[in-house]
Amino acid sequence: MAHILMGVSGSAACFKAAALCSQLTREQHQVQVVLTPAAAQMVTPLQFSCLSGKAALCDEFDPQHPSGMDHIAFADEADVLVVVPATANTLGILAQGLALHLLGSLALAFDPSKPRLFAPAMHPRMWANPAVQRNVGVLVSDGWQMIGPEEGSTACGSVGLGRMAEVAAIFQAIANIQIS
Ligand SMILES: Cc1cc2nc3c(=O)[nH]c(=O)nc-3n(C[C@H](O)[C@H](O)[C@H](O)COP(=O)(O)O)c2cc1C
Repeated sequence: MAHILMGVSGSAACFKAAALCSQLTREQHQVQVVLTPAAAQMVTPLQFSCLSGKAALCDEFDPQHPSGMDHIAFADEADVLVVVPATANTLGILAQGLALHLLGSLALAFDPSKPRLFAPAMHPRMWANPAVQRNVGVLVSDGWQMIGPEEGSTACGSVGLGRMAEVAAIFQAIANIQIS
């Protein structure tokens, strides 16, 4: 059983993150979901709260939060950080170390010696863009593990390299991690 901090960014593949959340929870993992504001336009925080049994987070400035320092507390208690799906925008934020949304803040507060994974999902031309590839290169050299993307038809209906890895492959990559 691991404490998994699951970041969901605003891709058309967001709905697949719900299946992953469900599968991880059924395997007795503790899953804390954090959606970016863009992801919350595509899927609802409530959906992830139901699946994980924990209130999904989205807004860093939500006055209902018991503490204003959630980005430290949630990063502290997690064993693994996984970003599924990872948009081009969020890859840039993570690679540049920016805290432009709660997920970015959490990623900065997360201990980089613990496992960090991301599963990109985007239009093939976005994926091929040199800026995106540069950001991915930075993340991998910073120790992040990339899962996918795959060749095929993307959630937005284009065909090429950029389709998010299958949920089963992401689940397996998480299951393979040794939690210390
Ligand atoms: C319907 C729809 C689908 C989108 N799908 C993707 C996608 O698969 N990958 C991506 O990088 N951006 C996608 N975008 C654009 C992102 O939502 C946009 O860049 C947003 O700023 C990402 O913010 P975030 O990284 O904070 O979640 C999509 C936008 C819309 C409206």
